[in-house]
Amino acid sequence: MQIVEAPDEFQRVIESMRLKDKSVGFVPTMGYLHDGHMALVKRSRQENDITAASIFVNPTQFNVSGDLTNYPRDLGRDLDLLENCGADFVFVPSVESIYETDTQNSVVHRVNISVSNINSVFEGAHRPGHFDGVALIILKLFNLVGRCRAYFGLKDYQQVLLIIQLVKELFIPVEVVRCQTVRQSDGLAMSSRNARLNDHQLSLATVLYRSMFDALRLIESGTVRIDALKERITSQISKIEEINLEYVDVVTEGTLETPEFAEGPVRILIAAKLGDVRLIDNLGSEEIFGNEKAMQSAGVAGLKG
Ligand code: PAF
Repeated sequence: MQIVEAPDEFQRVIESMRLKDKSVGFVPTMGYLHDGHMALVKRSRQENDITAASIFVNPTQFNVSGDLTNYPRDLGRDLDLLENCGADFVFVPSVESIYETDTQNSVVHRVNISVSNINSVFEGAHRPGHFDGVALIILKLFNLVGRCRAYFGLKDYQQVLLIIQLVKELFIPVEVVRCQTVRQSDGLAMSSRNARLNDHQLSLATVLYRSMFDALRLIESGTVRIDALKERITSQISKIEEINLEYVDVVTEGTLETPEFAEGPVRILIAAKLGDVRLIDNLGSEEIFGNEKAMQSAGVAGLKG
């Protein structure tokens, strides 16, 4: 595995691979890798000739500075994991090589990218500036990597929608591949932030998945009013004092639209705070019911029109 630090070198080595007719898979990360990231690397390896990953804790996407300082990091371990997983290249740039910095070492960025519809709801509304920072770094990374397939976990559902929109509207030659959230056996979604939870908090956090799963089962039994799904989740989570629910909502699958009834595939989005750790998760009805056919046999299609 080749480790590359300089952006221009990264661009050059990936371009040289494409010139040899190699298809390129790209897995951007902020490090502190877990099985969710490894699943992205494995999928990229299956679908492409070469796989490049990046590790860069992007300062512009942190709207709370403590969050950036506390973000867990372990580069040595990350590099071992990537190597063992078969990544071919890993890009580990410094902040100064990606952004201009001032004399205090703070990032100066004069080019901003904004995706208005994504910014105003859910994570966008709760984390002002977050998605602008994600859009900016992703555009920079995509410009370095060039034509590729890029792999993203659906745990960051809104981020995936942002990147799909960015690629589409700016004609970026990247195919965005959405990958299922990887969960522990107790349902907790893999996340680098889990490292900041103690064992007790880790077991409490499983209520996020359990409550979403339970709510989606209501669809199976015929209750498809979205309010009922939300109430069910809120009441389950509110039983746990240590958890502060920030929002729970239900969107039509693949969008951020909030329907009144679950008349087709839907996805529950949830954000909660446990201590000072903010957790997000989401679960799609199709993940539970398998496919459209299962939705129909669950009586959902009958409510359409
Ligand atoms: O999902 C992440 O880890 C980050 O938001 C990403 C996509 C690597 C951009 O910094």
